[in-house]
Amino acid sequence: MTNTSPITGPNSGDKSRVVIFDTTLRDGEQSPGATMTHDEKLEIAGLLDEMGVDIIEAGFPIASEGDFRAVSEIAERSKNSVICGLARASFKDIDRCAEAVRKAAQPRIHTFIGTSALHRAIPNLTMDEMADKIHETVTHARNLVDNVQWSPMDATRTEWDYLCRVIEIAIKAGATTINIPDTVGYTAPMESADLIRRLIETVPGADEVVFATHCHNDLGMATANALAAVAGGARQIECTINGLGERAGNTALEEVVMALKTRNDIMPWHTGIDTTKIMHISRRVSTVSGFVVQPNKAIVGKNAFAHESGIHQDGMLKNRENFEIMRPEDVGLSGTSLPLGKHSGRAALRDKLEHLGYEVGDNQLKDVFVRFKELADRKKEVFDDDLIALMRTGVDAE
Ligand code: KIV
Ligand code: ZN
Repeated sequence: MTNTSPITGPNSGDKSRVVIFDTTLRDGEQSPGATMTHDEKLEIAGLLDEMGVDIIEAGFPIASEGDFRAVSEIAERSKNSVICGLARASFKDIDRCAEAVRKAAQPRIHTFIGTSALHRAIPNLTMDEMADKIHETVTHARNLVDNVQWSPMDATRTEWDYLCRVIEIAIKAGATTINIPDTVGYTAPMESADLIRRLIETVPGADEVVFATHCHNDLGMATANALAAVAGGARQIECTINGLGERAGNTALEEVVMALKTRNDIMPWHTGIDTTKIMHISRRVSTVSGFVVQPNKAIVGKNAFAHESGIHQDGMLKNRENFEIMRPEDVGLSGTSLPLGKHSGRAALRDKLEHLGYEVGDNQLKDVFVRFKELADRKKEVFDDDLIALMRTGVDAE
């Protein structure tokens, strides 16, 4: 059962291509309080499709009638992305999932079961009983669709021998992608790279499937762990917009995509994402989920491309590369922002005044700068209107 598509098989196409699997609508929506309406899910799926996401995990069809409807409609509307639904290791879940993704041009079923000792105790299955269940359920899913992803949940805390054994079973049963979830955000970058590398080297048939990485951010390492997994041989990254997800969230799509783009010199892999669409979808996901993006969040935070201190603003005005490793335009912003505050210097003040249409000589700038600093001490940020008022007061006083 050899795979040929770049989405399902690693042996054809571009080996440096990393597939982006977005789970904002499934794992992201599982964040307490992040529930989205039907129309909001359709809108976000449309934006993901447009930005070049390879696979959209659109929901968990057995979870509710609403989830089923959302996955079905997204499947019907999607133009380019593979549409995937999640299913537990049960025929009932898998059948419902297959029905939901049926109308997609490229449907995928993602089925999973917890394989660590802790997770095996939940359904109270022995290792052998679980191995049989994996064989039966993956075989069943593969009889329904050609594109089947299987995940050993809590893989990073699963015993090594057992993990190899169940992955081999899933591959033999027809799984085309093997996802390695770090369900509780427990792994570290060196371990993440090593785990994928050793699995690919050890498990028979591993070179016939795509290995995926699915990281949670409990220790703040989800992005680093995902990129390390790619270094180890994974070619699918599972992620969400703004890092939305259970507890501390999932790997953030915008972070892995921009990291691969910006540091391609040391991470020679690329994605198919149109990065100029990042800011817009980030803002829409924040609005519809009600999860505000922290101002200093990498890539999409309000301050990610803002410079307030005098030294930085002066440096930016001379050459953007002094303090910017990415171009704001590349993530869909109109440009860098140099907000004026008490740390700002004369160069940024003069630049801003010129943009507002004021020609200021050195003496006038000296005077305005003193009054600007007095104001900035009282206000967190000095806006254009404040500066206009400041200039007017100066004129009136003369
Ligand atoms: O974190 C996890 O283990 C999951 C699985 C369902 C893949 O989200
Ligand atoms: Zn998860």
